[in-house]
Amino acid sequence: MKKLLVCTGGGDCPGLNAVIRGIFKAAKKTKEWEIYGSIEAFNGVMAEPTHIVKLTKSKVGGIHVKGGTILKTTNKGNPLQFPVQDEDGNIVFEDRTDTLAKKIKSLGFDAVINIGGDGSQKISKALFDLGVPIIGVPKTIDNDLSATDTTFGFQTAVQIATDSFDKLVTTAESHHRVMIMEVMGRDAGWIALHTAIAGGAEICLIPEIPYDIEKVKEKIDSRYEKGRGFVNIVIAEGAKAKDGKVFGSEREMVSEHLRLGGVAFQLSAELKAAGCKPEIRETVLGHIQRGGTPVGYDRVLATMFGVKAFELVQNEKFGEMVSFKNNNYCSVSLEEAVKDYNFVDKEGFLVQGAKAMGMSFGD
Ligand code: F6P
Repeated sequence: MKKLLVCTGGGDCPGLNAVIRGIFKAAKKTKEWEIYGSIEAFNGVMAEPTHIVKLTKSKVGGIHVKGGTILKTTNKGNPLQFPVQDEDGNIVFEDRTDTLAKKIKSLGFDAVINIGGDGSQKISKALFDLGVPIIGVPKTIDNDLSATDTTFGFQTAVQIATDSFDKLVTTAESHHRVMIMEVMGRDAGWIALHTAIAGGAEICLIPEIPYDIEKVKEKIDSRYEKGRGFVNIVIAEGAKAKDGKVFGSEREMVSEHLRLGGVAFQLSAELKAAGCKPEIRETVLGHIQRGGTPVGYDRVLATMFGVKAFELVQNEKFGEMVSFKNNNYCSVSLEEAVKDYNFVDKEGFLVQGAKAMGMSFGD
């Protein structure tokens, strides 16, 4: 029997379990493979003793409806920048990819499928360059990978945000308030833009279009002057004012990213400072957007990504990442996969169409 190792890395995302199940079911059907999972991304491989589990029918059955990942995940412990303490107790980063590649080989795995976002696929690429037979599966609620038209988790996040937005509209209307709802997305405004259009927001603020607070206030004032008496704003966590900077906590030393969150409160303070009169309330949706069961669309996408990933393994097309392009399940090289970030095009139809309907982006 050949041995296949699967792992999930980076932030969790609805649909991860559906990918694992898709891989498992397709691989089992061949009767040629045993499937294993590394717990908490590659940390399970690096651990001594290793933390690797054999996947079985009973472990995988029915998990496609379940949020999170049965293999656990982490955005700490990137082998390319592995955090270790030096003699003075300071955190320093070491490249441990070579050790990881050797360990994967010594454990006798014939193939690896790494499910994760851009950070995880950079790890896949580094491992492939060291001779590991690896396939990537893209995952992100942020929709920020340019090598695939969409990823599982994104539709679920948008649905959760839209449902929340709808609830905020009725309370905004009842109280004549300005409601600011902050959504995730890191440096891309996709979740915010889709939610704003789906919910019918008056204002949508995204990282790709730095906002002018006076323009945001003008839009609010005009709504009240027209007697509409309430305003709903969607703001992406990575949005910033012109000449302003992204609102986030200090970089956590063991994590790759600056931790974002809280820009809704900054916007609220800026509006008050600019003389905005109506009452303002802020909602930060946070990890709610990543939790729970994936919507049907994401289950299909995730399941087929799993099946496609195994097909690539069977055909020994290593060094590729599964992709969904032009309504087609295909693959791209890992090199291509990690090249470009997928930003919202501010001249594109989604933004221009929303503007044509009167939505303000604060520019
Ligand atoms: O990349 C997915 C994401 O949910 C981002 O939208 C968000 O900024 C980040 O992860 C949050 O990460 P953590 O779970 O580490 O707080």
